[in-house]
Amino acid sequence: MVPAVVERQPRVWVVEHPGARHELAILRSAATGRADFRAAAERLGYYLAMAATASLRTEPLEVETPLCRTVAYRRVEPLVFVPILRAGMLLLPAFLRLFPEARIGYLGLRRHEETLQPELYYANIPPLQPGAQVFVLDPMLATGGSMEAAVGYLQQQGAHGLCAVCIIAAPEGIQRLRRRFPEVPIVTAAIDHGLNEQGFILPGLGDAGDRAHGTGGASEPDADQ
Ligand code: PRP
Repeated sequence: MVPAVVERQPRVWVVEHPGARHELAILRSAATGRADFRAAAERLGYYLAMAATASLRTEPLEVETPLCRTVAYRRVEPLVFVPILRAGMLLLPAFLRLFPEARIGYLGLRRHEETLQPELYYANIPPLQPGAQVFVLDPMLATGGSMEAAVGYLQQQGAHGLCAVCIIAAPEGIQRLRRRFPEVPIVTAAIDHGLNEQGFILPGLGDAGDRAHGTGGASEPDADQ
């Protein structure tokens, strides 16, 4: 018997592809320089994008191959990618390479260093068409405050089909997002142990935004060590 409600994908999906694990090891290492950090994040983005979009709808269409007529499938839902500035930009290239026609929105959110509260400093969201699937990109789900603020903002703009995509998630962030938005799936490459007193994910990979942009201080390696 077919169940009345079929889950289209897991609510928390940890991408454990060997290739994704390999890229994650590069990202975690403090010895990884800036160029390799960005490149590994982009490659990992493909695995995350494949998982996050695995349940997009398709509709059949007839095509003429060089040999005969057959039924093929095409996607039907409009796509919107929303990187959370700054670190979310690391994941955008992979999503765009796979879905080049997608619309792009930007949310600038910075986390206060002491209170850990997110502050929205920029928003530019394209029109959300009916049925649009919106993917929020942010490598780190720490306390979950930034992703919670982003999803809340996008829902206010009319977004329905939302998915949170990150590289590393802390249990605290997952719980927070699940409590507030149980309908929003989370796709991540790892669930780490937890947060330290400064709200950093442990073991984590440090501050993705700083590592990608070179704003973490003079001791950050420019090149691999
Ligand atoms: C980091 C990270 C997330 C957020 C996660 O951004 O990129 O956006 O913190 O923390 P949370 O889950 O506790 O909200 P940050 O504020 O450092 O900005 P940046 O991307 O510009 O470095």
